[in-house]
Amino acid sequence: MDNNNTIAGWVLAGGIAALGFSILSGKYFHADKPERPETMGYVIEGVESSDAGEEEIPMSMMLAKADISAGEQVFKKCVACHTINQGGANGIGPNLYDTFDKSHGHVPGFAYSDALTSIEGNWNFDNMNAWLISPRRYAPGTKMTFAGLGKPEDRANVIAYMNAQGSNLPYPEPPAEEAAVEEAEADAAAAEVAEETAEADTAAATE
Ligand code: HEC
Repeated sequence: MDNNNTIAGWVLAGGIAALGFSILSGKYFHADKPERPETMGYVIEGVESSDAGEEEIPMSMMLAKADISAGEQVFKKCVACHTINQGGANGIGPNLYDTFDKSHGHVPGFAYSDALTSIEGNWNFDNMNAWLISPRRYAPGTKMTFAGLGKPEDRANVIAYMNAQGSNLPYPEPPAEEAAVEEAEADAAAAEVAEETAEADTAAATE
């Protein structure tokens, strides 16, 4: 009787495992050929990174290495809704010329959401970075239905590109990287001294 139960248990477990596998593989093979609707609503590019915000490299350090022409390529994800030339028309989104150091919702006549215009302060490199990680997390209720840019390099490059269109703010000083290196070197030197002292002690003890 016990044995029969065990066998029944294994058969059941096997069945569940097989079912699980077929569900998983169904998902897996499906992912290769996403079914897109014939006509798309408006295009929403980009992905929202799930780990956004964690272990972020400061934007000031990213900008030091940013590439404006690479940023122009990234901005292609924005042109469905935005122009960025001086005096450019508003589209689904506002014209983005000279946006840095301007208030949230800076283009007169564009029908912004309250979600965006109620945010205090001007656009800077850090809050623009946060906005581009996830607009809807930065301004819950925003009308910008863009998921976000998952890659820090993409954000840095597009921020550098946007800054070059009218704002031209100086990049912030990167945090003192050298100071950190010096500190690490000092630590290593201290460790070396400690080791030498230990060796000398051992030598003294054996003498
Ligand atoms: C699907 C259309 C759409 C896409 C794609 C899109 N945006 Fe937007 N964007 C909007 C809308 C709509 C608003 C106004 C949001 C609001 O009022 O809540 C906006 C607002 C903004 C603002 C605020 C401007 C201001 O005056 O304060 C910035 C900055 C911005 N977008 C940058 C970008 C960048 C950079 C990209 C590409 C990486 C992008 N957007 C992609 C629709 C879009």
